[in-house]
Parts: sequence; structure tokens; C-alpha cells
Amino acid sequence: MKKAVFPGSFDPITNGHIDIITRALKLFDQIIVAIAYRKEKKPLFSFKERVELAKKSTSNLPNVIVKPFSGLLVDFVRKERACTIIRGLRTISDFDYEFQMAFMNRKLSPEIETVFFLASEEYAYLSASLVKEVAQMGGNLKDFLPQPVIVALQKKIKKEL
Ligand code: PNS
Repeated sequence: MKKAVFPGSFDPITNGHIDIITRALKLFDQIIVAIAYRKEKKPLFSFKERVELAKKSTSNLPNVIVKPFSGLLVDFVRKERACTIIRGLRTISDFDYEFQMAFMNRKLSPEIETVFFLASEEYAYLSASLVKEVAQMGGNLKDFLPQPVIVALQKKIKKEL
């Protein structure tokens, strides 16, 4: 079975992520959406919330499972018996960061390949941080986020105000 891991902070999962997962499903039998703990970052959604939102948002996609991870990504990939890391590319500005990560992961684990999927043009401008800003200003989120995430984000913002 061709298994791939799609890692990220997913704070929160967006339609851009769902687009990448859908594309990857055409090439892989199973996609593990791996939610990173990341104690150095201060996420809007807790680790548990990010996992729950990703689960709800992918529940209609076959062969997708959501799992939390902490520590090195390559260790998680090995533990899951996968051999591919999936990342999405939106614009040229993503390249630097993505290349650094891919080369570091290759150095750590040469047997694991990183595969990049190009985001759909309609999501090329989409980022979790921009979406959070739009939400805070009361903008319409339906083109950017899965429904469970819209509900959770609006609730969180109301609480913060
Ligand atoms: O969505 P993000 O924040 O761009 O995802 C980055 C992530 C979580 C994939 C990356 O930071 C990561 O792999 N973290 C795990 C720690 C690790 O393995 N670091 C060394 C390789 S870069």
C-alpha cells in the first residue's frame, strides 16, 4: 500500500489543505494528515482542537486518517511505515522554506522522499494566518475553510472579543 504523510501545523486546516489532500489521493492509497504539536509556536487552536477540526473536515474523504505527532517528522513517517512526505506549494515564496525542510528531512532519512503538489490557483493566496485575520474582521470565510472550521473559528473569535 502506498502511504504518504501530509504534515503541518494545521492551525486551522483550510480548503487549501483539503485541495492538496484530494490531489494526493490520486497517487497514494492512504494519506495520513499529521498534526504537529509545535511547542515553539503559539497556535490559535490547541493541539487537540487542531486534530479534531482536521478529523471533522476530512471525514468525507476516503483513505484519509488524521494523527497527532511530536518530535521529528521523519521518525513519525518511519513509525507509520510510510515512505513519502507530502507538502503543498502555493507560490514561489514557499520554495525557500520547503526546500530547506525537504533537504533536512532527506539528510536525516535518505529513504524518505518529499513530494510537492501544486495548489489550485484559487488557493494560491490562501494561508491559515490570512484566514484568521479575515475572520477577526468579520469577512466571509466560506470559500476558504471547511464548515466545521468556520464554526469553531467564529466561536473562538467571539470568546476573544
Ligand atoms: O504547516 P507548517 O507549520 O508549515 O508545518 C511545518 C512542519 C510541522 C511540517 C515542520 O515544522 C516539521 O516537520 N516539524 C517537525 C519537527 C521536524 O521534524 N523538524 C526537522 C525537519 S524540518
